[in-house]
Amino acid sequence: MAGVASFDVLIIGSGAAGLTLALRVADKAKVAVISKGSIDAGSTSWAQGGIAAVMSEQDSYDSHVEDTLIAGAGLCDQEAVRFTVENGPESIGWLIDQGVTFDVTEEGPYHLTREGGHSERRVVHAADATGQAVHETLDHKVRAHPNITLFEHHMAVDLVQAEEKGQVQGAYIYDLESTKVQAFAAKFVVLATGGASRVYLYTSNPDGATGDGIAMAWRAGCRVANMEFNQFHPTCLYHPEARTYLISEALRGEGGRLLLDDGQPFMQRFDDRGELAPRDIVARAIDFEMKRLGVDHLWLDISHKDADFIRSHFPNIYETCLENGTDITTSPIPVVPAAHYTCGGVVTDLRGRCDVDSLYVIGESASTGLHGANRMASNSLLECFVFATSAASDILDQLDDAQAPGDIRPWDESRVTDSDEEVVVSHNWDELRRSMWSYVGIVRTNKRLARAKRRIDLLAEEIQDYYGNFRITPDLLELRNLVTVSDLIVQSALQRKESRGLHYTLDYPDLADQPVDTILQPE
Ligand code: FAD
Ligand code: SIN
Repeated sequence: MAGVASFDVLIIGSGAAGLTLALRVADKAKVAVISKGSIDAGSTSWAQGGIAAVMSEQDSYDSHVEDTLIAGAGLCDQEAVRFTVENGPESIGWLIDQGVTFDVTEEGPYHLTREGGHSERRVVHAADATGQAVHETLDHKVRAHPNITLFEHHMAVDLVQAEEKGQVQGAYIYDLESTKVQAFAAKFVVLATGGASRVYLYTSNPDGATGDGIAMAWRAGCRVANMEFNQFHPTCLYHPEARTYLISEALRGEGGRLLLDDGQPFMQRFDDRGELAPRDIVARAIDFEMKRLGVDHLWLDISHKDADFIRSHFPNIYETCLENGTDITTSPIPVVPAAHYTCGGVVTDLRGRCDVDSLYVIGESASTGLHGANRMASNSLLECFVFATSAASDILDQLDDAQAPGDIRPWDESRVTDSDEEVVVSHNWDELRRSMWSYVGIVRTNKRLARAKRRIDLLAEEIQDYYGNFRITPDLLELRNLVTVSDLIVQSALQRKESRGLHYTLDYPDLADQPVDTILQPE
């Protein structure tokens, strides 16, 4: 496509957050949705457990708020938590109206499962493939909408701004097929690019979770908050050759027990809530026991439950484990923790606005204040729907008065050539992710963080040099973003002189008296 493509709203990201916002504005606005992979390439379609919302009479907003605050270890923004929780049922209602089919009980109402940190059953789900059910429905709606144009296999490189750190006018988009970069102009740009767990060697996330939106927003002048709180999911399938695969927390919610090699349960030694303690506690307990015993994994056992119950509630987990040699109806599952969720992100308000005009950040890329120091299970999809909706409404309020951007600078690649050393990119990818895994993992120390920082500084210099001289490739763009995000994580971790939620350091094992957000400001 030649020239500048122009839209009212340019949405970068086609997960729960991006597609919801698209559908919520599309009757009144001309929308582009960009995805660097296929439409379902993000984490959304991989989501298993479900979506947390107050859906039963036994439950209450106060209880959901309270559980979220406890899981967040004192660092949640109370207003953001209440806002999210109180808008939860509306979001679930909207999804049902779009055609999502959630599991129901024999008596009629929705089947609600339990997960860590929740004191009530409040997680609506579609068996163990909630993300797929939601995403497929939104995908069909988006493709059918005449005002939405979908650009799959198009990757955002950077935002276009009127002046340095000024109003956003669009973005430079790399077409993976033609390998050309084109400027897209828009009245409003929305970053909905998901999380950054791919900075770690072992992760439950899809390949594209490289923190692109967080890095782009940072370069554009936005503050980021609480990046040290990367969540490790306690239970991913351990298999030396298979790709990391999540074993939903709902399995523990329905009675799954964590066991040592000798078959002994151990979680009660760490927390009265046992297997259903918040994730930070369970992941740390597993890490502690694995290191103490010198083993590669522990066990998660649900085989004491009825086999038909297991197969109907967890059909995908059952099949995947079977393919990898474990029949979960008869045997325990080998499990390890893996990087799962970016609790921090770009600082936004309740409308998804950030520090740069005309730019919105929603979904896992944002730091709304909901998660604090540790996200509670199934609050993430909820946040995507609630904040996509509030951002959409804020955009619609301004749409008629907003000016389309004038001329925007075309992409300039006159000074670069094709790379003669692609190996630099693949080697640095590997080195970065290994360093983050080894030095910035579940248990940290000043020394490990300093070691990671030295490596990241060196990699950042090399990548910047490479980026300035050679024609871009998707791997190079992702690596550039991963280095930026890793640096933000390590800087934030070094600033926090306490252990709180997901940030645990042997040098400061105690909680500080006052909870304080870590906020980084670009120069
Ligand atoms: P994503 O769904 O990750 O989508 C990101 C989008 O951005 C993709 O379309 C991607 O292609 C695009 N993108 C990224 N960078 C660029 C770029 N540079 N240019 C163009 N496009 C780009 N949460 C829950 O609440 N409940 C659960 O049960 C649950 N289960 C989970 C299970 C797994 C295995 C995983 C990995 C996560 C789970 N989560 C769950 C977390 C939740 O799925 C995610 O936090 C949520 O889906 C994020 O949605 P999103 O719209 O912000 O981003
Ligand atoms: C899971 O099913 O365990 C994932 C839920 C989540 O990440 O919220």
